[in-house]
Amino acid sequence: MEQTFVMLKPGVLQRRIAGEVLGRFERKGLKIIALKLLRLDRKLVEAHYAEHRGRDFYEKLVEYTLSGPVIAMVLEGEDAVAVVRKLTGPTSLLEAPAGTIRGDYAAKTRLNIVHASDSPAGAEREIALFFCPDEFCPWEDGNAPWF
Ligand code: CMP
Repeated sequence: MEQTFVMLKPGVLQRRIAGEVLGRFERKGLKIIALKLLRLDRKLVEAHYAEHRGRDFYEKLVEYTLSGPVIAMVLEGEDAVAVVRKLTGPTSLLEAPAGTIRGDYAAKTRLNIVHASDSPAGAEREIALFFCPDEFCPWEDGNAPWF
């Protein structure tokens, strides 16, 4: 099974929609195997968004990510990276269709409310940035193979 990294950005808690957004991943059948609420420091945000350093939106993106607590998680499932990206929708505000998380909840590209890894290699890097091995809690579906 594949794992991916998802971060619900500060706007999620500020808008009281953590349950709704998390629910979309759960309804799809993705398995939460690590989850935490945390306030990031600048060093971690800059490491996480290193590829965007120098872009015109970079400083504001860092500022927004530091503006309140985030919810970081590792989700597991078949083709989890691609499946989660389908649920989040594309980054661009104009391209994110209704029905996707970004399409439904973001009015500005920079203020979109969710980050999801864009490749298995990216997921591995981001998971290692945010989680230690002892923060994982793997579990089995037992005899209920719904997903
Ligand atoms: P995220 O998936 O967290 O990854 C990088 C973030 O940079 C992205 O979501 C947006 O919040 C932001 N971003 C990417 N492209 C743009 C853009 N063209 N304009 C403003 N913000 C952007």
